[in-house]
Amino acid sequence: MSNPTVATGGPVLISSWNGLPAINLAARLLAQGADPLESIVAGIQVVEDDPDELSVGYGGLPNEDGEVELDAALMHGPLHRSGAVAGVRRIRHVARLALEVLRRTDHSLLVGEGACKFARALGFPEENLLTEKSRRAWLDWKASLSPRDGWLGPDELAGTGHSDFGKARWAGSTDPNSNTAVPSSTRPGPNDSRTAPKVPHTYGTIHTSLLTAPGGDLFGCTSTSGLSYKIAGRVGDSGVVGAGVYTDNATGSAGATGRGESVLQSCGAFAIVQAMESGRTPTEACLCVLKRIADRTREKRLLDSQGRPAFNITVYAVRKDGLFGSASMHEGYEFAVHSGGESRIEKAAFLFKSTPA
Ligand code: GLY
Repeated sequence: MSNPTVATGGPVLISSWNGLPAINLAARLLAQGADPLESIVAGIQVVEDDPDELSVGYGGLPNEDGEVELDAALMHGPLHRSGAVAGVRRIRHVARLALEVLRRTDHSLLVGEGACKFARALGFPEENLLTEKSRRAWLDWKASLSPRDGWLGPDELAGTGHSDFGKARWAGSTDPNSNTAVPSSTRPGPNDSRTAPKVPHTYGTIHTSLLTAPGGDLFGCTSTSGLSYKIAGRVGDSGVVGAGVYTDNATGSAGATGRGESVLQSCGAFAIVQAMESGRTPTEACLCVLKRIADRTREKRLLDSQGRPAFNITVYAVRKDGLFGSASMHEGYEFAVHSGGESRIEKAAFLFKSTPA
């Protein structure tokens, strides 16, 4: 299953489904002659500022202690340089903070208190990032005694794989694009007291990749609040160059949203760019890496009743010649794109067709 996608001559911006306002602003800034990486960071900042977006920036769902922890990473194709921050608390614009790491330091990744101290030194405002909506979601999660956290039960420890309740960890999403959705056959039953389908739960993230013009320069950026209710200090793919984002100015740029652990364990964005380098189209490269992830998902707790990954990942890619594409592990996901004219939402290709409930 593939989506034919070609650019029309100007810049190409590809983003996750929640990135429409981001690529709209980035396209406007680019048209005014703004710096390309600055333009995509400014676009992502719009989504980081959105209090209703539960997976990014201000209002993102917190860790298990009720503290919002943010990760972001970006790459500058022409310089082949990166900047990233992870486990950042009380600073909302982490994509911009990652940009400052790239611009002002010779480092690639700052984490935790060191990243926060760097932000304070640069004058980034400190604030409580919990909104009333995300605070209530966290309280509901605590009240639900949900097992959907980062801990494994005694019979789920790596290598044993004999649990039958772990599959409910990623269930309960009501948002088809939140990258938490699992096939309905694995959703918890109404009598399952350990789960609360109405508690929002997400791996959602924003990714944007930019090609300035066919044959031009490439840039990429990803920002997230990560897995909701995670163990404090957990970092997923979004803050790690090569996993949540990777850009090679000779070939293309790629990014990922969804279950960060799986993307990390397959060097997802790097693998997509490598697949494009070896001649695959962006959509083929996305599907090929999703298949690699699916083939290596072996623990029972991560599989549905048909042996497919019981979680979603969506990946995005743009190639140096302007071809772009996106694919999801499961059917029904979307991505945002700007390739001349209006920005729009398109359907992502997918690896696994959804089956009737
Ligand atoms: N993809 C975001 C995360 O897993 O943290």
